Amino acid sequence: MRTLVIGSSGQLGQDLMQRLGEGAFGLTHADIDVTDGVGVSCIVRDHEPDWVINTAAFHRVDDCEMNPALAFAVNAVGAANVARAAAEAGAGVVFYSTDYVFGGEGRPRHDPHTESSLPDPYNVYGVSKLAGERMVMNANPRHLVIRTAGLYGVATSRKGWTFPELMVSKGRADGWVKVVTDQALSPTYTHDLAETTQALMEREARGLFHLTNEGECSWFEFAQATFDITGIAVNMEPSATVTGERRARRPPYSALTSERLAESGVPRLRPWRVALEHYLNAKGLVEAH
Ligand SMILES: NC(=O)c1ccc[n+]([C@@H]2O[C@H](COP(=O)([O-])OP(=O)(O)OC[C@H]3O[C@@H](n4cnc5c(N)ncnc54)[C@H](OP(=O)(O)O)[C@@H]3O)[C@@H](O)[C@H]2O)c1
Repeated sequence: MRTLVIGSSGQLGQDLMQRLGEGAFGLTHADIDVTDGVGVSCIVRDHEPDWVINTAAFHRVDDCEMNPALAFAVNAVGAANVARAAAEAGAGVVFYSTDYVFGGEGRPRHDPHTESSLPDPYNVYGVSKLAGERMVMNANPRHLVIRTAGLYGVATSRKGWTFPELMVSKGRADGWVKVVTDQALSPTYTHDLAETTQALMEREARGLFHLTNEGECSWFEFAQATFDITGIAVNMEPSATVTGERRARRPPYSALTSERLAESGVPRLRPWRVALEHYLNAKGLVEAH
């Protein structure tokens, strides 16, 4: 199975490349720009892939509010360009979307959004990704649209840090962190996401899937687990989201679960805390006792 991975030097892209091995061909942003429809068509056709995985995104959530044209160019039109090019080449397409298609105001904890929940995005990033989902589905019937959340992985992304890494570095430097308690999500290890993506492709699964590590936590609980596992002693101050402090409104509750994985015969991803422990060990961040 020959697979093109767009965004192959990104956080998820690097795990996909490793997971897929010899059958994978990676394209970085220098090799392809998903906003250039003609260019995308030519490049995809020349590679004759069975699958095209598109990890490219403009996902700096606050910057998307300032530049909605770019958000839609990459996350919606760009996604459609890739999906259409794949269809023309007889290939399937994988597109990654986000938990930010949900808002969750007033939704109780421990009632995660499923694939049949009604999207309700609160910011430009979420709206542009939701548009991307629809455009991918329309452009290529052989599609996997995967909503995921709170990604962290061993491969360094261009932003240079993951949330657990940031917590470890602040905790070690200051011995004190302040983290919000009123935004809950299902954080996801890119290693596990890459593995389950491959399993769905191998089974020729189609349609919309929520792929996150099992369970949910607030950012505060995510940080707390990071310190528990690494053994770093830190004073933690719980805080509340301040409206208007950041440009993009954050969803208070965007935890996800899947009601479709079981029917595809693909196991659920492991619980988020178990995955976090694996990651922190792989990164060498756990302190020796
Ligand atoms: N990160 C999260 O927490 C999170 C949560 C939910 C969903 N997602 C989705 O998951 C996917 C992967 O995220 P990630 O964290 O792996 O992102 P990432 O590390 O930023 O990787 C994305 C890659 O796409 C490339 N890219 C950006 N714009 C492009 C364009 N116009 N044409 C071609 N390539 C382009 C980037 O290259 P440059 O950096 O050189 O521009 C980068 O290598 C994205 O679709 C994202 O929306 C992420």
